[in-house]
Amino acid sequence: MQEAFFEIARAGELRPGTMKRVDVGGRRILLANVDGRYCAADDTCTHEDASLATGVLKGELVRCPLHGSRFNVCTGKAMEEPAEDDLRTYTVRLEGDRVLVGLPGEGAP
Ligand code: FES
Repeated sequence: MQEAFFEIARAGELRPGTMKRVDVGGRRILLANVDGRYCAADDTCTHEDASLATGVLKGELVRCPLHGSRFNVCTGKAMEEPAEDDLRTYTVRLEGDRVLVGLPGEGAP
């Protein structure tokens, strides 16, 4: 899949165990620092419209603030109901102190 990369943070901006929402390319992206590794997924819970960035991150698991679904923020896997659908995940690339996220390019699904 062709991707276009956008800077969404500076390395060190997010401490391990923290996350933030970034609006980029018409998408709401959740960027998480999982023990020093960055993972990115859709910020909007697949159950309803809650922003996962306002939830709780423990390891790779983010808990939705609204009804408590849990997702793996690195794989996108829905781990606990009521959400049943997985989150879309995105490639994260580090270039120097810039954190970039890859979004699907034109013509990508
Ligand atoms: S909106 Fe996330 S679990 Fe309901």
